[in-house]
Amino acid sequence: MEILVEQGSVTEVETPLVAVGIFEDVKQPGGATAAVDSALGGLISQLISDGEIKGSLNEVTIIHTGGKLPAGRVAVVGLGKEEKFNLDAIRRASGSLFQKVRDLGLGSFRSVVHSAGAAGLSPADCAQAMAEGATLAAYGYRQFKTITPARGEVERMTLVEMDAAKVPQIEEGIRKGQAFAAAAVTARDIAAAPPNLATPEYVAERARELASRYGLECRVMGPDEMQEMGMGAIMAVGQGSVHPPRMVALWYKGDPRSQKLAGLVGKGITFDSGGISIKPSQNMERMKYDKSGAAAVLGAMQGIAELKLKANVLGVMALAENLPGGNAYRPGDIIRAMNGKTIEVISTDAEGRLVLADALAYAVQQGADPVVDLATLTGAVVTALGTGGAGVMGNDDALIRQLQDAGDRAGERLWPLPIWEEYLWEQVKSEFADIKNSGGRQAGAPVGALLLSLFVDKAKWAHLDIAGVAWVDGDQVVMPKSYLPKGPTGFGARLLMEFVQKQAQG
Ligand code: BES
Ligand code: MN
Ligand code: ZN
Repeated sequence: MEILVEQGSVTEVETPLVAVGIFEDVKQPGGATAAVDSALGGLISQLISDGEIKGSLNEVTIIHTGGKLPAGRVAVVGLGKEEKFNLDAIRRASGSLFQKVRDLGLGSFRSVVHSAGAAGLSPADCAQAMAEGATLAAYGYRQFKTITPARGEVERMTLVEMDAAKVPQIEEGIRKGQAFAAAAVTARDIAAAPPNLATPEYVAERARELASRYGLECRVMGPDEMQEMGMGAIMAVGQGSVHPPRMVALWYKGDPRSQKLAGLVGKGITFDSGGISIKPSQNMERMKYDKSGAAAVLGAMQGIAELKLKANVLGVMALAENLPGGNAYRPGDIIRAMNGKTIEVISTDAEGRLVLADALAYAVQQGADPVVDLATLTGAVVTALGTGGAGVMGNDDALIRQLQDAGDRAGERLWPLPIWEEYLWEQVKSEFADIKNSGGRQAGAPVGALLLSLFVDKAKWAHLDIAGVAWVDGDQVVMPKSYLPKGPTGFGARLLMEFVQKQAQG
């Protein structure tokens, strides 16, 4: 979908539909909404007093103008409570509006930029959120759909702004919003891709493509090279599959005069059957999304390069398929990671921490600091936090705070969980090796993080457990956001872009 801005008035534009906003419990509309209301002879105020327009978030009311305005229809978009208004409210309102327009079968529409000026938000940020919300709401993984839907595509959204001085800022916001949304879409496409297509080699190939498109340095390590480098952990996880593992590294150098290098590391299990410690078959098809961490890293690298952010970033994707088989690794195996530490395998289903062990050690060896990893690591984090946010754990409180702030701006919430080493260490001590890869039922998410911490040396590090937020289920209890349609969310891609952008601004 094309997204444009034009200087003009909502009461004068010719369009199939023009959208204005309304806060919850507001009796008398203001601004552009008031102008439209009076052109319609007070119809909007009437609908408000009749209780048909409440202004709640996700509410979109369509009014046919009957020739009272050059626009064919007016959409009154609920913005929720004014005191709760923020960028995510704009994303959600924009997503709801988009879906309404699509359901109506309209090819294009216009909208005001919701509340540029209010709540201390800049016109650029508001326009960015509008672009993100609409683009992300439009998403679907359609690569394998051969039966095309009857309804057409929405081809254009145009933001209408009265104040000519704001138009360039809105234009800049749209450009950013498109880059942020495209990063999440790249992540979603990788996460959704079926495991027979998206093998480790395939995902590595997508990274190579991205690297050549944006001029990034790219290194794809195959089994021989990984063996040579001592990456025994990812090798063990991948050895049960005929699709051998890959370790992919991408370098973006947007600040060549600085020595600083941020590392983004992603778990990329292209399919997690559990291996010999096999999972129950119910919902096992979902385990193609176990590459969502790597997908978010790839998406973020794309977005960072697209916006030419002033930062140096290393993206690492640990790609392997976890299958049982005659050559699969087993419970009882002792494996050696790249940093020399030995791990006794208790469960072959605790494979994420193994591939990340080598990926984190590699990122640190390459000089990355801070290092942020993303992984659909544990079912336990879903039990702890549900689908409302990802767990964040790490060894540096300031880094965790910065990531939480980035998450709040992106509408991708993080909640901290503690790594209480003195207790947790007992759970992962091994009789035969340095550690074991599973610590039983208690504190599943923090135990995973504790194991990861052994592979980051002295670097500042944080781990995002995204198992609960990387996919929206059809039967999910919590109402998903309008811009998160059922399926992969791309969680983390926009958060990481926000994080790197903020670091770049100093
Ligand atoms: N990919 C899973 C985590 C997961 C489980 C995500 C369920 C979403 C839903 C991970 O590899 C895994 O299997 N973790 C185990 C760890 C345990 C064996 C220590 C888990 O959470 O049960
Ligand atoms: Mn597993
Ligand atoms: Zn897994």
